Amino acid sequence: MMVKGRVVRVKKSEGQRAKNEIKSLGLFDEGRVIRSDGEYVYIPVKGGAVPEKYEVVRRGLEKRERREGFRELLVGRFGEEHAKGVLSSYDVVGNIAIVQVPEELREHEGEVGELLLRGDKKVKAVWKKAGGRGGEFRVTKLAHLAGEKRSETEYLENGVRMKLDLRKVYFSPRLSYERKRIVGEVGGAEDVLVLFAGVGPFALEIAKACPSAEVVGVELNPDAVEYFEENIKLNKLENVEVVLGDALGAAKGRFRSWADRIAMPLPMGSEEFLEAAFAAAKPGCTVHFYRMVERNGGVEALEERIEKAAEKSGRNVEFVFEKEVRPYSASTKQVVVDFRVT
Ligand SMILES: C[S@@+](CC[C@H](N)C(=O)[O-])C[C@H]1O[C@@H](n2cnc3c(N)ncnc32)[C@H](O)[C@@H]1O
Repeated sequence: MMVKGRVVRVKKSEGQRAKNEIKSLGLFDEGRVIRSDGEYVYIPVKGGAVPEKYEVVRRGLEKRERREGFRELLVGRFGEEHAKGVLSSYDVVGNIAIVQVPEELREHEGEVGELLLRGDKKVKAVWKKAGGRGGEFRVTKLAHLAGEKRSETEYLENGVRMKLDLRKVYFSPRLSYERKRIVGEVGGAEDVLVLFAGVGPFALEIAKACPSAEVVGVELNPDAVEYFEENIKLNKLENVEVVLGDALGAAKGRFRSWADRIAMPLPMGSEEFLEAAFAAAKPGCTVHFYRMVERNGGVEALEERIEKAAEKSGRNVEFVFEKEVRPYSASTKQVVVDFRVT
């Protein structure tokens, strides 16, 4: 639809510069689309004083069709209250979305999937969580909701490309800020051990940002290891390696007293593996330990357990940092505790 209104007319060669200036002055009219002919560019402007150097004319320009996003579509269809549960819990990894459909929307779940495809053009497949994370590999059970029936995707995080299949491996994009923090902590030529490495997000991001670091990931799920290997090639990295196997075995074997830094992103059960951290840690090693804890007093209790485990392994620990990584439930949260081992 054409809408007539105020338009700045400039020579084509001046178009980009004029558009930037008009936008920076807050005069650009987002409701209409810029057009050009052989000689001139027509830039829609709102009311307000346009600098005198510009010629202002009245002209019809096409109305910009504003596409509604997933949030607007969902709220419009089911109301704010019902939409809330879906909006706070869905994730997009590459071009695949994972949603959690609350009980009250269960009979409309197919429609929720279709709205996601419509509202977020990069999403090509929608899956719903059909159970919690299960088994040793912590893989989420998924059921197909809409779009392509595909669960393999490529995802870009902190400059690193990762291929993965959400039905075969654990992956959560919600730790991307935390991974960025750890990358920022690595100081040069360190030996970094990532236990429970998955498809490699922590290890690959450290290796890419710190070319003088030597990084090793240890992972038990053969599918995750296969993707990790592919991701090393995808990012052309030469300072990172993945080892298929058990974290404790690797830490007590090949990597005994090897690491300057250890990341342990296994929040549901990593305490039994503290022994692994103490076996692999060089004196002065920093450990990033992830854990679900009770909101009330959970961190203090965890630190006590870490101290006890250190004592058992004949080591000392100094706590250097702690924070909530993400909320988990009303009474629990995921935290990271960083400690130095001597
Ligand atoms: C919570 S996931 C974290 C994956 C990855 N670090 C990430 O952030 O995407 C935990 C991973 O540990 C792996 N795992 C479980 N037990 C293990 C063990 N004993 N040794 C090595 N890896 C293990 C699982 O297969 C899973 O991929």
